[in-house]
Amino acid sequence: MSESLVYPVSGEWAHRAFIDADKYQALYKRSINDPDGFWGDEARRRLDWIKPFTKVKNTSFGPGDVHIKWFEDGVTNIALNCIDRHLDKRGDQVAIIWEGDDPSRSLKITYRQLHERVSRFANVLKAHGIEKGDTVTIYMPMIPEAAYAMLACARIGAIHSVVFGGFSPDSLAGRIKDCGSKLLITSDEGLRGGKRVPLKANVDTALEKVPFIVNKVIVVKHTGGDIHWEKGRDFWLHEEIENVSPDCPVTPVGAEDPLFILYTSGSTGTPKGVVHTTAGYLLYAAMTHQYVFDYHDGDIYWCTADVGWVTGHSYILYGPLCNGATTLMFEGVPTYPTISRFWDVVDKHKVNTFYTAPTAIRSLMGAGEEPVKKTSRASLRLLGTVGEPINPEAWEWYYKVVGDSRCPIMDTWWQTETGGHLITPLPGVTPLKPGSATKPFFGIKPEIVDGSGVVQEGPAEGILVIADSWPGQMRTVFGDHDRFIQTYFASFPGKYFSGDGARRDADGDYWITGRVDDVINVSGHRMGTAEVESALVAHERVAEAAVVGFPHDIKGQGIFAYVTLINGHEPSDKLRKDLVAWVRQEIGPIASPDIVQFAPGLPKTRSGKIMRRILRKIAENEFQALGDTSTLADPAVVEDLIRERKKL
Ligand code: WT7
Repeated sequence: MSESLVYPVSGEWAHRAFIDADKYQALYKRSINDPDGFWGDEARRRLDWIKPFTKVKNTSFGPGDVHIKWFEDGVTNIALNCIDRHLDKRGDQVAIIWEGDDPSRSLKITYRQLHERVSRFANVLKAHGIEKGDTVTIYMPMIPEAAYAMLACARIGAIHSVVFGGFSPDSLAGRIKDCGSKLLITSDEGLRGGKRVPLKANVDTALEKVPFIVNKVIVVKHTGGDIHWEKGRDFWLHEEIENVSPDCPVTPVGAEDPLFILYTSGSTGTPKGVVHTTAGYLLYAAMTHQYVFDYHDGDIYWCTADVGWVTGHSYILYGPLCNGATTLMFEGVPTYPTISRFWDVVDKHKVNTFYTAPTAIRSLMGAGEEPVKKTSRASLRLLGTVGEPINPEAWEWYYKVVGDSRCPIMDTWWQTETGGHLITPLPGVTPLKPGSATKPFFGIKPEIVDGSGVVQEGPAEGILVIADSWPGQMRTVFGDHDRFIQTYFASFPGKYFSGDGARRDADGDYWITGRVDDVINVSGHRMGTAEVESALVAHERVAEAAVVGFPHDIKGQGIFAYVTLINGHEPSDKLRKDLVAWVRQEIGPIASPDIVQFAPGLPKTRSGKIMRRILRKIAENEFQALGDTSTLADPAVVEDLIRERKKL
C-alpha cells in the first residue's frame, strides 16, 4: 500500500543540489562504462596525493582470481587529506562540534586545533614504539580524543581497530588477540545517559585474558573516576602529550595500505576483521558524504552513530573531514536528560543534516509528537537513515514530525564491508518512496539473483549481489584472506554477495528485505546468531542453544534463544534471567536475548542439522506455516516447542 506513495524532488532541491537528475544519468553511465576515467578524475579532484597514481582500477571478482586494487601506485595520507590540506583555507573553521552526555558540556574544535592535537597524539604513539603497519586498538567513549586517536594512527600509517565501548571485556580481548595490537587507547570511563561505563576496568579484565599482547595502554582522563593503574603499562594521555613535539609530519602511505580493521559479525564463527585501505576508502566516503547529504561549505552535519561502527568511521570522521565539513559528535543517548535531546541538540548547534537509525526513530515515535514539536528544528534541511530497513510508518513520522514535511530522507543501504553508501537516494535526483533505498550510487552495479545465481531482470525479488568493484569496498579479512573469498565471492562466483535480500520494483527502485544469512540486525547492530549461541553454551548449565531473530517493534529484530539444559538442571525464571545476564557479560548489552525459551529438544534433521526455518517461525508465533517437517529426526519436538512458545 505505502509503496504507491512517492515524494517527488522539490524545486528547491533540484536547484540546490550538486547532482540533478540529468547529471545523475550521465555520471552514472560514465561510472559504469568508463570506471577508469570516472574514478581517476574523482580521485585527482578530491584527494591530495604525495605521489600521483598512474593506475586506477585493477580488480576482479573472479571466478577464480579475486583481487581488488584501486590507485595502487599512488601515495597519500589520510590525515593530510582530512586535516593538513584544509589549514590554509579553513584553519579556523570548526571541524568537530562535541556535545557531551551532560547538556551543559560541549566543545568546538577547529581544523587548526585538530591538527595540533592529532599531531601530538601521533608523536605519543611513535614515542611508545608504534610504527607504520602496526595495529592499535581503540576502546573509547564518544569524546574528541577518539577522533584524535583514529587520525593519529592514520597520520603515521598505523592501522586502527576501534572496538565499540559497549562490548564486553571478552569481546574486546578476542579482537585484541585477532589483530595483535601492542598498544591500546582507552579512557578512564565513558558517560551515557548519566551513567558511567567502566572502560578502563574492562580493559584491565580483557588484558588478563590475553596477556603478552598489549604492553602499552594510553588512558584519556574523562570522568576522573577511580581506576586501577598498572605502572609501566598505563600512561595518561594528558601527561604524555606534554613530552612530545606538536609537529609530526605525515607518513607517506600507499593507496592500498590498510587504514583500519573493524570487526563485524557474520553467519558463522567469530567476528571478522574487515580491512579497509587508504585512498579508495577515503575517496568513496568523501564523495558519498558530499552527494548523498548534499554537503555544502558551512553546513552543520550530525551523524548520531558511534565511532565503534563503520557509520562513525565513514560518516562522522573520514568522509566529512575529507570534505572540510563541520561534523558533530554526540556522547550521549537520545533519551537523556529528556526525550527531546536530539532536537534540543539540533537547535543548539543549528544542525542542517541529521543522520540516524530507524530504531532510534521508532523508539522516539513511542513518546508521541510533543517532545519533538516543542523544539524548533528550523535549521534542518535533510534527514538520513541507516542500519536496517525502515518501516514506512517510521519513515512517515520522521518525514512529517521531525522534518516538518520539508526535509527529504536519504535511506542509505550499505555495510561495514562496503565502506560507504551503495544504494541510496540523492536529494536532487530521486523521488522518495518510504521504505525503499531506491537507486545505486555512482559506480555501483546491483543485481538480483535467484538461489542458483541466475540474474533476474525487471521487477524481481531475490538475493542482492554487486557485479563489479567500487573504490570503498573492503579488501580482505584481517589474517584470513581465504575467509574473505569464501564469505563474499564463493556463493555467486564473479559477484560480491551482500548477505541481503532485495526486491526491485517496476521503477527500478530497490527495497532491502533483510538478511538472508544467519545474521540478525538488532537496533541496527549486527549480530551473528552463532556468536550468541556460543556464549550461551559456554554457560555451565547449557547443553545446546539455537538463536534466531524475530520481529521487534522498536529494535527491528529481537534475539530469540532456544536453550536445552544439561540433564539434571531445571528451567526456571531465575535461570532465564541468569542466561540473559550471562550473554550480556560475555558479549555486551547489544547481544542480550529478548526471549529465552527452554527447549528439551531442538528440531534437527537426521544428519543433526538444526532446522532454523522452523525455529524462526515458532519465534514469530507463526505456527501454521512451518513447512515440511517430515525430514526431522523427531517431528514430535515441534509440538513441544509450540506448546512452550504459547506460554511465553
Ligand atoms: C547490514 C549491514 C552500514 C552501516 C550500518 C550497518 C542492514 C544497513 C540499511 C538500509 C535496509 C540496511 C543490511 C546490511 N542495512 N542499512 N538502509 N536498509 N537494511 O552496518 O553492521 O555492517 O550492517 O545492515 O542488512 O547488510 P553493518
